[in-house]
Parts: sequence; C-alpha cells; structure tokens
Amino acid sequence: MRKHDGPGEGRTPGHNDPGGATARVRDNGRSPPPPADPEGSPLPMTQLQIGPHAVQPPVVLAPMAGITNAPFRTLCREFSGGKGLFVSEMITTRALVERNEKTMQLIHFDETEKPRSIQLYGVDPDTVGKAVRMIAEEDLADHIDLNFGCPVPKVTRKGGGSALPYKRHLLRSILREAVSNAGELPVTMKMRKGIDDDHITYLDAGRIAVEEGVTAIALHGRTAAQHYGGTADWDAIARLKETVPEIPVLGNGDIWSADDALRMVRETGCDGVVVGRGCLGRPWLFGDLVAAFEGTGTYAKPTLKEVAAVMLRHATLLGEWLGDEARGVIDFRKHVAWYTKGFSIGSELRKKLAIASSLDELDALMSELDLDQPWPVGADGPRGRTSGRNRVVLPDGWLDDPYDCAGVTADAELDTSGG
Ligand SMILES: Cc1cc2nc3c(=O)[nH]c(=O)nc-3n(C[C@H](O)[C@H](O)[C@H](O)COP(=O)(O)O)c2cc1C
Repeated sequence: MRKHDGPGEGRTPGHNDPGGATARVRDNGRSPPPPADPEGSPLPMTQLQIGPHAVQPPVVLAPMAGITNAPFRTLCREFSGGKGLFVSEMITTRALVERNEKTMQLIHFDETEKPRSIQLYGVDPDTVGKAVRMIAEEDLADHIDLNFGCPVPKVTRKGGGSALPYKRHLLRSILREAVSNAGELPVTMKMRKGIDDDHITYLDAGRIAVEEGVTAIALHGRTAAQHYGGTADWDAIARLKETVPEIPVLGNGDIWSADDALRMVRETGCDGVVVGRGCLGRPWLFGDLVAAFEGTGTYAKPTLKEVAAVMLRHATLLGEWLGDEARGVIDFRKHVAWYTKGFSIGSELRKKLAIASSLDELDALMSELDLDQPWPVGADGPRGRTSGRNRVVLPDGWLDDPYDCAGVTADAELDTSGG
C-alpha cells in the first residue's frame, strides 16, 4: 500500500488504526465535557439487551443501504471504542437465499465485529424463513433485524416495505417464520409509524411482534408518507414503549447530536437509540454518543485536517473491502459532501473531490484545502435526505381490509440488496 503525505500523513490503512485518523479525532479539537444529562435528572437507563447481547451504552447504528457496509461500521466502531451495535445495510431475503454474488459480499463482516448484526428485507414468509435459517445454520450473523420501514415507491407500490405492516396477518406470518427459523438468534424489527396519518400501524405491529417472539423493536417516528420530511414524532416512540413494555423499544429519527440521543431517552422512555443520517460524514458521532451516555467524555469537533484523514481512511477501507482501490474511491464519492459540509471549500475543488478516482488523487486534492479550519458552526445539524412526500403509492385496494390474507408478489422485493 502506498504511503500518503499531506492530510493522510500517519494514516495506517488496514483494519486497525493505531494512532491514526480515528484516534486523532477522538483526542483533538474537542468541546468541553458534556454533562451526564443536560437536564440534570438521572437518565432512566437500563441495560439494553438484544437476546444474549448486552448493548451498552444503548446506541445502534441505523441500517442504511449503500452506507452501513463493513468499512463504515468499522469506522463508527473505532470511534465508539467497540461499544454499541452496528447494523448492516438491508439484505434482500430472496437474493440471500439465491446466494446472489453482490449479496454474499454485502453480508461480509469484519472479523472484529461482535455481535454481527444483519438486516433483512423480505415480503414472503417462506423466503424470509429460509433466509433466516440459512443465517442461523451457516453462522452468518449473531442478530437479525427485519426491515418494515422502506418508503420507496417501487416497493410500496407492490405492498412491500412500510406498506406491509398494514396487512396484519402477513406481518404476523413473516415474523413467525423468522423467529421460528432463527434458532438462538435474536430477531428484531424496524418499522415506521404507518402508511400515513390515517393508516397508522405501529401499535398493532408492536403487539403482533411481541406475540410472535420478536426480541426488540425500533421505531422511526415517521409515516411512509412523510418519507424523510417534517419532524420525527418522538411521542409515538413513547406510546410504543407503553404498548409493548415486555421488550426493548429503540427510538429512531432526528438524532443529530449526542445530546439529542439523551433527550430522546428522557422524553420517550425508550431503551436505546438508533442513529442514521447524523452519522453521515460524521462517524465520530458514535464516540460522542458513548461519551454522552457514559457521562465521561467529550464531543469531537474535528478540524478539516482531521476530517480529511478520516475521509482517506474511509476510502481506503472501502477499497480494501471491495478488493479494488479505484472502486473504493468511487464508492466513497457519495460521502464527500457529508464530510465536507460547512467547511469553506471552493466549488471547483468540491467538484473535483466528488469525482476523484484514486487515493492519490483524493489525497492530492485534500492537500489543496485550508486544512486548519475548525469544525464549522452549524455542521452538526440535519444532513442526508430531508425531503418529504405526500402520497404513498400502494397496490389497488390495499387499504380496503387490513385483515385480509393478501400476499405480496416477489417483485415487491428489490432485485438486489442494499439498493
Ligand atoms: C441513505 C439511507 C439509507 C437507508 N437504508 C435503510 C435500510 O436499508 N434499512 C432500514 O431499515 N432503514 C434505512 N434507512 C432509514 C434509517 O435507518 C433511519 O430509519 C432513518 O434515516 C431515520 O433515522 P435518522 O433520522 O437517524 O436518519 C435509510 C436511510 C437513509 C438516509
């Protein structure tokens, strides 16, 4: 592997990063220690237990297709000191059962990942059952999460994703097949509030999940109609917690800072938090989350130089994972705008960074930046998708009867995983 000067100096490619990019962000440029609880009252925190796995502090990296692959999970884990749970991007059950080549690559975990957490998406109880059995029998993961939250029109149009929990019997069948084929593996589910404000499903779905032996539930406090717009409804998380006191409830939606996470726990009584877009271009948020829950640490405020070093490491890890440096840098392009958000960088240089195709090129471009810039004011706010949508596309007659025994055709599954 080539040696890099400039912002990547001291970068140590590979899965260990002793004294490297992540350590520097952890150690430098930090804000003063946060209070254990900014409101001054003790957090009603119990240990989060996902089956046999203790998750302490109770912070979970949200599954994000195209993002939370092994390299990104590794980065987040390095910042958290190995604490927390890091869920894979969504894997389509049909593609898994068919051993699709891309899918088999996506389910790769770094050997240091413990527990290995995989998210599955499926619409057919039988195929979901087979996929879960395959994971259990072949020891492919330690925890299985089922995704019922996808709002993508091409999926809801067929009755999949966040449209599916509306059909209570179908949801129950899928959960039953998953749990009964999982052996000792804990099965959790992640969902939205419902299709839209007139078709709310999460409380029924929560009860069904408990009855079918699901271990924990994560709720994204939006309907499918909201997509990523508006504000996540944290009251719904509290209501779910009251409705399913038997199992842990994880709150999800609009956690942009470690203090947001504490606030969600305090305001909703949820047992843990799931953090998605807040980590985009900010894997060190995981270090902040651990610091906040433990009340011991400080929050990272990396300079552009430190951010650049993390960017290079991320791109390097992607190249190693894909087995091809150029493919790694190309896959990394989508992350550039998130990492550099708020920093003063000329538009030409920004464009060039987003089309770099080798580590050398990325490195050279980054050494042209004004690397001494401090962490920008306001860069901790919303990032990633934030747009709303008004109408959820559904199959004809889908809303007529929540209790009919509709099945969903296989084409409600995406062709490939992580899409
Ligand atoms: C790019 C992207 C990809 C996503 N992919 C998935 C996915 O594969 N599975 C899933 O359950 N949710 C997925 N989500 C939703 C997130 O897991 C999370 O529920 C949502 O972003 C709300 O949390 P946040 O406000 O912390 O981002 C995705 C979100 C984004 C932005």
